[in-house]
Amino acid sequence: MGIEIEKPCVVELSNIAVSNTHGEDSPYFAGWKAYDENPYDEITNPSGVIQMGLAENQVSFDLLEKYLEEHSEATTWGKGAPTSFRENALFQDYHGLYSFRAAMATFMEQIRGGRAKFDPNRLVITAGATAANELLTFILANPGEALLVPTPYYPGFDRDLRWRTGVKIVPIHCDSSNNFQITPQALEAAYKEAESMNTKVRGVLITNPSNPLGATIQRSVLEHILDFVTRKNIHLVSDEIYSGSVFSPSEFISVAEILEARNYKDAERVHIVYSLSKDLGLPGFRVGTIYSYNDKVVTTARRMSSFTLISSQTQHLLASMLSDKEFTELYIKTNRERLRKRYEMMIEGLRSIGIECLKGNGGLFCWMNMSALLEKATREGELELWNEIVNEVKLNISPGCSCHCSEPGWFRVCFANMSENTLHVALERIRNFVDKLRPHSF
Ligand SMILES: Cc1ncc(COP(=O)(O)O)c(C=O)c1O
Repeated sequence: MGIEIEKPCVVELSNIAVSNTHGEDSPYFAGWKAYDENPYDEITNPSGVIQMGLAENQVSFDLLEKYLEEHSEATTWGKGAPTSFRENALFQDYHGLYSFRAAMATFMEQIRGGRAKFDPNRLVITAGATAANELLTFILANPGEALLVPTPYYPGFDRDLRWRTGVKIVPIHCDSSNNFQITPQALEAAYKEAESMNTKVRGVLITNPSNPLGATIQRSVLEHILDFVTRKNIHLVSDEIYSGSVFSPSEFISVAEILEARNYKDAERVHIVYSLSKDLGLPGFRVGTIYSYNDKVVTTARRMSSFTLISSQTQHLLASMLSDKEFTELYIKTNRERLRKRYEMMIEGLRSIGIECLKGNGGLFCWMNMSALLEKATREGELELWNEIVNEVKLNISPGCSCHCSEPGWFRVCFANMSENTLHVALERIRNFVDKLRPHSF
């Protein structure tokens, strides 16, 4: 996704069009531009920028390709209903194909080791988690009201939750003193901060496992967040887009499991977001879902999903793929193993250079601590170091400030969108940079 150069506009546009709450002027997107202008290629451009700012999963494409080679029925049409070409071409019901919703619900259960149940009738289909998060924000909050979001958070939330909805994000500040866990004090402080600005809080939005931390939220913390939202009578959105990319399934606790254990008490305030962009590595397919325990939210979300549906052709393909249990079991297991291997390669490589990462257990990135390399322990100091890394070392990584991290010196580095060879080249570049910059600092 390139950043376009804009000419000044002489004709007036809407307030939304001219507002800058889209967040695309952050270093997160500027780094992508540096990559777009000079992309690394092992053969044709070995001194180019390596893209480590993109949370893409390319480690298991071979499994998807093999499935498609062996299962032509997923991409072709049977003669009769409901899979005939004509039926599919005309299908535009916003409920989505039942076969797709059922397969998706089962896949979401499988990822959670069968410890949570999902009813296909509560599943709303959306064009990716981007649309799901925006749609939920439209439903839960009015313009000017707020969602509390733990920091550091995925930079795209500035666009998805705020831009078109007019809703505010109030940060729940987390820091390295307790490995960036969300504390009761931080939750209360964020709520009070919103109150002091006369801003009504409508909900808390968490990402589990977290982007950019690559770590899951502990059961006790989730329990506390659920109690908090119940006490304040607000909503909880749990973006679980990386749930299938947790290396050991037992280390991921979904809010769905906790609700089940509580016999779904107060469940109507809880909504789960999921998509196939990360676990299956299919961001281009735009396949997302909202799973809500609230009937009114399900109905409204379904109505609103008219704006961002998934093509029936894509639903047809995925209904076939995800209902093949043998395939999904193999895929989930192999993908987890491969991601863990990459993660270990990354953190061990960095450790040998003297750089530590937060202990992670899932996701497509790690959260790297480079604070020892800062000239000044400030946001500006972090951006100076980031500039050097992008322009001299030629690695696009995401500075913590683009994720609203309140502590300078942390960076998100992605490891699953490149080959192992490229990852080695990136690590070698970091080693040379650190050796040159501060020969005695580590
Ligand atoms: C936490 C989180 N939510 C949502 C998204 C958007 O995902 P999608 O491609 O499904 O819109 C991302 C993508 O990076 C993400 O990290």
